[in-house]
Amino acid sequence: MDAYSTIRWSGDVDGHLVLLDQTRLPTEIVYVECRSVSDVDQSIRRLVVRGAPAIGVAAAYGVCIGIQEATGLNAEAMRLAINVTCDFLEGSRPTAVNLSAAINRMQSVADQLGFPALLGPRATSSKFDSHNVTHNIKVARRLLAEARAIDSEDREMCAAMARHGADLLANLPDGAGILTHCNAGALVSGSGDGTALAVIFELARRGKRLHVLADETRPLMQGARLTMWELMQRGIECTLICDSAAAQVMREGRIQAVITGADRIAANGDTANKIGTYSVATLARAHGIPFYVAAPTTTFDLSIAEGAKIPIEERASEEITNIVDHQVAPHGARVYNPAFDVTPAALITAIITDRGCISPVAESAIRDRLT
Ligand code: MRU
Repeated sequence: MDAYSTIRWSGDVDGHLVLLDQTRLPTEIVYVECRSVSDVDQSIRRLVVRGAPAIGVAAAYGVCIGIQEATGLNAEAMRLAINVTCDFLEGSRPTAVNLSAAINRMQSVADQLGFPALLGPRATSSKFDSHNVTHNIKVARRLLAEARAIDSEDREMCAAMARHGADLLANLPDGAGILTHCNAGALVSGSGDGTALAVIFELARRGKRLHVLADETRPLMQGARLTMWELMQRGIECTLICDSAAAQVMREGRIQAVITGADRIAANGDTANKIGTYSVATLARAHGIPFYVAAPTTTFDLSIAEGAKIPIEERASEEITNIVDHQVAPHGARVYNPAFDVTPAALITAIITDRGCISPVAESAIRDRLT
């Protein structure tokens, strides 16, 4: 139903990546073409493409771009191109695990196919060896198919999450207020409906009348710019509030549930999401309001025991000292700008995943659901 596509691969193995430029929304619909790995890296860093699943999908396609020039060369060049591209893109953003998970998946597909250089001396005999070229093209096709699979699996996970979440929230009264933070809609997925907003979209499809309150989400305003845009496009009743209004709005009885997405969930359920999420979860607990997280199983990182170990991205000070291009803090002001925070599992009523809901949120329940 969307008139826009967040992420699109154009063409075959020699194609390129097309991204909806989320830095320009909602006032302009502009697409950015990525034809080099550096284009993809910059697009992820600048938040042209953003949100946990989306940056994983974009990075997977980025690997396909990284090997294009090596396809016609020897096996060693191909192997190097894959490794260098994967290492490079993995550094684009640290917090959302979907990015490194997608890259690891691409790398392991390439490793499984092997490289002729590693199979015998003939393979490295010439820079342009037709045997190698044939093999490299096979690798390139396989990697593109894998990137497309990551994209379409993500779409299916969004749909499953939406169904489970809508079942869980089916008893909300008509007209209930739902607070969300940051943006977790179709803009965080390659071609799906997203995470937290996907649940809201599904409830609306089922005929539930809701009123969504969107935190503006300082400093980069994903709530004001992107969530409000998505909700209004779909005709869902919504109101924008500034982040600091959440407590008052809760006390006024306008919020019956909070739902957000996640960037990485540790084995014990501690959840990293956009800065401010922890405050909202704490407020929800203080007001007796359930706090839900919607996240695909690809957002769990069972190798990390607890939230304190999740790497938190720090971003440029200008994001806080300036509003758009207007300087608001004194020149030289010291700034601390963590882009994410960690909500302890104990504050989360349930995690909604594509495999069903986890509640209470505890390591054993998470492992049962995921394995
Ligand atoms: O810095 P961003 O805009 O990439 O942060 C995105 C979020 O924090 C989302 O809430 C998160 O990715 C969950 S939605 C999949």
